[in-house]
Amino acid sequence: MSEATVEAKSDRLVEWRSEFPTVESTLYFVSHSLGAMPRGVEDGLRSYVQTWKTRGIRAWDEGWFALPTQIGDLVGGIFNAEPGTVSMHENVTSAQAVALSAVDFRPPRNRLVCTAEDFPSVLYLYEGLARRGAEIVRVPARSGRRIEEADVVAAIDERTAVVAVSHVLFRSAQLLDLAPIARRAREAGALTLIDAYQAVGTVPVDVRALGVDLLSGGSIKWLCGGPGAGYLYVSPRVRERLEPALTGWMAHERPFDFDSGPMRRDGRARRFWTGTPAIPAFVAARSGYEIVARIGADAIRDKSLRQTGRMIALADDFGLRVTSPREPSRRGGTVVLDVPNAEAACTALLASDVLLDHRPGVGLRLAPHFYTRDDEVDLVMARVREAVQRAGA
Ligand SMILES: Cc1ncc(COP(=O)(O)O)c(C=O)c1O
Repeated sequence: MSEATVEAKSDRLVEWRSEFPTVESTLYFVSHSLGAMPRGVEDGLRSYVQTWKTRGIRAWDEGWFALPTQIGDLVGGIFNAEPGTVSMHENVTSAQAVALSAVDFRPPRNRLVCTAEDFPSVLYLYEGLARRGAEIVRVPARSGRRIEEADVVAAIDERTAVVAVSHVLFRSAQLLDLAPIARRAREAGALTLIDAYQAVGTVPVDVRALGVDLLSGGSIKWLCGGPGAGYLYVSPRVRERLEPALTGWMAHERPFDFDSGPMRRDGRARRFWTGTPAIPAFVAARSGYEIVARIGADAIRDKSLRQTGRMIALADDFGLRVTSPREPSRRGGTVVLDVPNAEAACTALLASDVLLDHRPGVGLRLAPHFYTRDDEVDLVMARVREAVQRAGA
């Protein structure tokens, strides 16, 4: 019996495949971009429309109003957030915008420290804060696209209001060690705001152990929750002193009083809501959260490291250049291959049901997830090699 067969036999996580119809009809290696749809989403959305149709306005009291809080607690459980600390938003950008609207960027403490490799959407948001007095300090990559934690730590001082960095960088899949960054930020009196989109669902994250203040993420990727469901964790340590300027009636302690102000904010996660919550998106997100929470981040990570390790070894055998980190402690769930004609190779692979993506400047990105079989890892790498050869011919 081959080694791969032995592994496959002991891989209990493949039992979840039956919950994800798409993984049976494709080679699904794009969960860093769009996780496969859980079967339960169809029932969830059907029940949502049924409720709307039959219960009308009563739906708010019968479940809709409570839903974002329940869903927030569910996703928060995956990263060990205390109940009542996670608010739901449309996406990471809007979640971070709410959080940052609570920060006064006034000298002498007006700096926001981020990295050059953070996701463009949040970098644009930080750029916009410059108009509100923020001084943006972008820590550059040193060699290739690698960010050194020591450089982030060195950029933090008493002028820093917020340290806003990714946990896993989206282009390179580099996993940043947040512990020294969070420690230095605390010492300097700065808030930490972590973009954990590329981490939660594939890398274990524990907000309490890390001691981070704020953490944002979304659902489309590793959590298999579809579009429209971003989340924001705010530690109870800092919650009371944060008063977002980007707010709304749903953040009021008694929204249905329709009080014209001054604003009295809710004491828990609802403090960070804005207007009417996007119920269907949160309904759709629930199945993926439940499955990831049931499997557990540690089991997902163990499997991810094993399969990405195999992909890296095969890439070496095939002469495909790996640019994501090789060390297990430094890599997220994605393998990045810097190949010639990545875009053409990607287009050809997508057309033949091999699902992956590419990013300008780094090449092809491929990711197994808990539903991936070991034989698919070998198969996808063979298909990539073939497509890269063809694209170069
Ligand atoms: C690290 C990271 N942050 C943010 C985003 C996107 O954020 P949003 O939810 O605002 O679209 C992505 C990918 O789409 C990402 O990989």
